[in-house]
Amino acid sequence: TYVVTDNCIRCKYMDCVEVCPVDCFYEGENMLVINPNECIDCGVCEPECPAEAILPDTENGLEKWLELNTKFSAEWPNITVKGEAPADADDMKGIENKFEQFFS
Ligand code: SF4
Ligand code: F3S
Repeated sequence: TYVVTDNCIRCKYMDCVEVCPVDCFYEGENMLVINPNECIDCGVCEPECPAEAILPDTENGLEKWLELNTKFSAEWPNITVKGEAPADADDMKGIENKFEQFFS
Protein backbone atom coordinates (compact mmCIF):
# COMPACT_ATOMS: atom_id res chain seq x y z
CA THR A 1 0.00 0.00 0.00
CA TYR A 2 0.89 3.64 -0.24
CA VAL A 3 0.59 6.01 2.70
CA VAL A 4 0.31 9.76 3.17
CA THR A 5 3.04 11.17 5.41
CA ASP A 6 4.13 14.30 7.28
CA ASN A 7 4.63 16.47 4.18
CA CYS A 8 0.89 16.54 3.54
CA ILE A 9 0.07 18.28 6.80
CA ARG A 10 -1.28 21.79 6.11
CA CYS A 11 -0.31 21.49 2.43
CA LYS A 12 -3.25 19.30 1.47
CA TYR A 13 -3.02 19.97 -2.26
CA MET A 14 -5.43 17.14 -3.04
CA ASP A 15 -4.02 16.41 -6.50
CA CYS A 16 -3.86 12.82 -5.26
CA VAL A 17 -7.64 12.64 -5.02
CA GLU A 18 -8.03 13.43 -8.69
CA VAL A 19 -5.96 10.49 -9.88
CA CYS A 20 -6.81 7.65 -7.50
CA PRO A 21 -8.76 5.01 -9.44
CA VAL A 22 -10.37 3.54 -6.33
CA ASP A 23 -11.16 6.73 -4.36
CA CYS A 24 -9.38 5.57 -1.23
CA PHE A 25 -8.45 8.97 0.23
CA TYR A 26 -10.00 10.23 3.47
CA GLU A 27 -10.05 13.81 4.63
CA GLY A 28 -9.00 15.26 7.95
CA GLU A 29 -8.71 18.88 9.01
CA ASN A 30 -5.04 19.23 8.04
CA MET A 31 -4.20 16.25 5.87
CA LEU A 32 -5.53 13.34 3.87
CA VAL A 33 -4.86 9.66 4.52
CA ILE A 34 -5.11 6.53 2.39
CA ASN A 35 -7.14 3.50 3.40
CA PRO A 36 -4.48 0.77 3.13
CA ASN A 37 -7.15 -1.90 2.71
CA GLU A 38 -8.59 -0.16 -0.34
CA CYS A 39 -5.38 1.06 -2.01
CA ILE A 40 -4.53 -1.17 -4.98
CA ASP A 41 -0.87 -0.10 -5.03
CA CYS A 42 -1.08 1.45 -8.50
CA GLY A 43 1.35 4.20 -7.52
CA VAL A 44 -0.14 6.93 -9.71
CA CYS A 45 -0.71 9.30 -6.79
CA GLU A 46 2.92 9.35 -5.66
CA PRO A 47 4.35 11.60 -8.42
CA GLU A 48 1.21 13.79 -8.46
CA CYS A 49 1.73 15.15 -4.95
CA PRO A 50 3.49 18.55 -5.10
CA ALA A 51 4.62 18.07 -1.48
CA GLU A 52 6.03 14.59 -2.04
CA ALA A 53 3.92 13.34 0.83
CA ILE A 54 2.92 9.97 -0.60
CA LEU A 55 5.24 6.99 -0.24
CA PRO A 56 5.03 3.21 -0.53
CA ASP A 57 4.90 1.71 2.96
CA THR A 58 7.81 -0.55 2.03
CA GLU A 59 10.15 2.38 2.65
CA ASN A 60 11.96 2.32 5.98
CA GLY A 61 10.47 3.97 9.03
CA LEU A 62 6.91 4.35 7.79
CA GLU A 63 5.25 2.07 10.35
CA LYS A 64 3.92 5.07 12.25
CA TRP A 65 2.36 6.47 9.08
CA LEU A 66 0.83 3.15 8.09
CA GLU A 67 -0.77 3.02 11.51
CA LEU A 68 -2.00 6.60 11.25
CA ASN A 69 -3.43 6.09 7.74
CA THR A 70 -5.20 2.94 8.88
CA LYS A 71 -6.66 4.56 12.01
CA PHE A 72 -7.87 7.79 10.48
CA SER A 73 -9.17 6.37 7.20
CA ALA A 74 -11.66 4.49 9.38
CA GLU A 75 -12.77 7.71 11.11
CA TRP A 76 -12.58 10.48 8.51
CA PRO A 77 -14.95 10.99 5.54
CA ASN A 78 -14.07 9.74 2.08
CA ILE A 79 -12.99 12.43 -0.39
CA THR A 80 -13.44 11.96 -4.14
CA VAL A 81 -13.35 15.52 -5.46
CA LYS A 82 -10.40 17.85 -5.14
CA GLY A 83 -11.08 20.91 -2.99
CA GLU A 84 -9.09 24.08 -2.47
CA ALA A 85 -5.69 23.80 -0.83
CA PRO A 86 -4.99 26.01 2.22
CA ALA A 87 -3.96 29.56 1.27
CA ASP A 88 -0.56 29.10 2.92
CA ALA A 89 0.06 25.61 1.51
CA ASP A 90 3.19 26.70 -0.35
CA ASP A 91 4.65 28.26 2.81
CA MET A 92 4.09 25.02 4.69
CA LYS A 93 5.75 22.90 2.04
CA GLY A 94 8.90 21.16 3.18
CA ILE A 95 8.71 22.17 6.85
CA GLU A 96 9.95 19.33 9.03
CA ASN A 97 8.17 17.56 11.85
CA LYS A 98 4.78 18.98 11.01
CA PHE A 99 3.05 16.14 12.80
CA GLU A 100 4.49 17.22 16.15
CA GLN A 101 3.69 20.88 15.48
CA PHE A 102 0.46 20.96 13.56
CA PHE A 103 -1.42 17.67 13.45
CA SER A 104 -4.89 17.90 14.90
FE1 SF4 B 1 -5.01 5.35 -4.96
FE2 SF4 B 1 -3.16 4.13 -6.43
FE3 SF4 B 1 -2.45 6.01 -4.70
FE4 SF4 B 1 -3.30 3.66 -3.80
S1 SF4 B 1 -1.43 4.04 -4.98
S2 SF4 B 1 -3.90 5.67 -3.03
S3 SF4 B 1 -4.86 3.14 -5.34
S4 SF4 B 1 -3.71 6.30 -6.53
FE1 F3S C 1 -1.60 15.78 0.63
FE2 F3S C 1 -0.14 15.64 -1.51
FE3 F3S C 1 -2.57 14.74 -1.56
S1 F3S C 1 -0.18 17.32 -0.07
S2 F3S C 1 -3.62 16.02 -0.12
S3 F3S C 1 -0.93 13.95 -0.33
S4 F3S C 1 -1.55 15.83 -3.19
